[in-house]
Amino acid sequence: MNASIKPAASADASAQLVAGLDTSTSARLFKAALKPIPGGVNSTARATWSGWDPYPLFIQSGLGSHLTDVDGNEYIDYLLGLGPMLLGHRPPRVTQAVVDFIRERGTVFALPTAVEAALAEKVIAAVPSVEQLRLCNTGTEAVLYATRLARAFTRRPKLIRFEGMYHGFSDQVYWSKHPDIAKAGPDRHPVPVPQGPGLPRGVENNLIILPWNDADALADAIQREGDQIACVITEPVMCNTGCILPEPGYLETMRELTARHGIVLLFDEVITGFRLGLGGAQARLGIKPDLSVFAKGLGGGFPVAACGGRADIMALVAQGKVSMAGTYSANGIAIAAANAALDELATPGLFARLDALSDELRLGLAKVLADAGLPAYVVGLGPLMQVWFAKEPIRNYRDAERHADQALFRRWWQGMLAHGVLFHPGAYENLFVSTAHTRADIAATLAAAKSVATDLARAV
Ligand SMILES: Cc1ncc(COP(=O)(O)O)c(C=O)c1O
Repeated sequence: MNASIKPAASADASAQLVAGLDTSTSARLFKAALKPIPGGVNSTARATWSGWDPYPLFIQSGLGSHLTDVDGNEYIDYLLGLGPMLLGHRPPRVTQAVVDFIRERGTVFALPTAVEAALAEKVIAAVPSVEQLRLCNTGTEAVLYATRLARAFTRRPKLIRFEGMYHGFSDQVYWSKHPDIAKAGPDRHPVPVPQGPGLPRGVENNLIILPWNDADALADAIQREGDQIACVITEPVMCNTGCILPEPGYLETMRELTARHGIVLLFDEVITGFRLGLGGAQARLGIKPDLSVFAKGLGGGFPVAACGGRADIMALVAQGKVSMAGTYSANGIAIAAANAALDELATPGLFARLDALSDELRLGLAKVLADAGLPAYVVGLGPLMQVWFAKEPIRNYRDAERHADQALFRRWWQGMLAHGVLFHPGAYENLFVSTAHTRADIAATLAAAKSVATDLARAV
């Protein structure tokens, strides 16, 4: 399979595109899209500056675990829409449910339907910490709701968030995602760095940025300012700086410290929810947060998200004190999709099979990279993983900035793409495995990896 992105130095490749020398359909469509759409794409993660340099692949269609681009190249897909396609592309049960709902019932009523409570009951049954929940459309919205609830419940203003994580693009949390560490303060006491211009000044006064996997830094911050802190927001597994697992005891300490100081522990399970098991990372790791947010895996590829948790916190919504609105919240498409997705995910043995397949990929990649003698290792949990090209262990964002070889990752990505294996070009993203992947997909991926790793080892 030939990938249409050339494994060339990006500056050369960009120049080639601008000069119109690249004749692929993706290149042509991208050039045309640059006029009406800023950056030619509708999300930062698809932009040239996020790694899709000199242009993103334009996709024709997806089916199961495979994608086909507009130039007819087929790929085994580990990008999976950045997570939502947990059941693969066009999962029959979900697609049918959505089509039926639209045909037979409609989409938006501004009044409730019976299927909303049915969906809420399924989430509550699956996720032990969730006693009540509200539905919305995106992870960004769900985080916005959850942090507002935490502030209202505790009557405190500050949030703790961790450097290197992503919790959506709202003003309050779009800080210190991947800051320049030369400008981001000391390792133990990072300063808030806005994602860019346009974030209002003053927000940072209510943000405490901490290094992840550092229980002492968390304890110090809570000791200093605990009575001002409404909420600690964290991904239970760090999925927005590659894949970094919590060190043993870290999340337990976080739970204990937040509980002791009346701080709401908010798990951002937008990526891990319904992926690391029906109960998400919290069930798998045995930690009970106060609030949680979910999106991607919940909707089988359709936009639906949720914010839920302790009934006494959610009571602020029931009492009409904290407003959670939304014209499209719990629309027919979202609810039909999520109900069908959760029914599918509840299939006995589904997660055991998904985990076994994912382990085969993770362990297989680790072996291929080790056999080639490359300075690399694979970190992951279930159907979520990333390859680190690094000699040192990576526990948090600054470790990644200091130790991860981004240039080598890019060559790895280019090589795999040229062999028909697709994942995001950024080392800080993840490889996702879906229930539609097969052992044949994994075998083909490992064969490609062997060839690419051998080439890389020769060049390193
Ligand atoms: C952990 C996490 N939280 C929140 C979000 C935002 O979700 P959405 O893109 O649906 O707004 C993302 C998106 O990638 C995410 O990875």
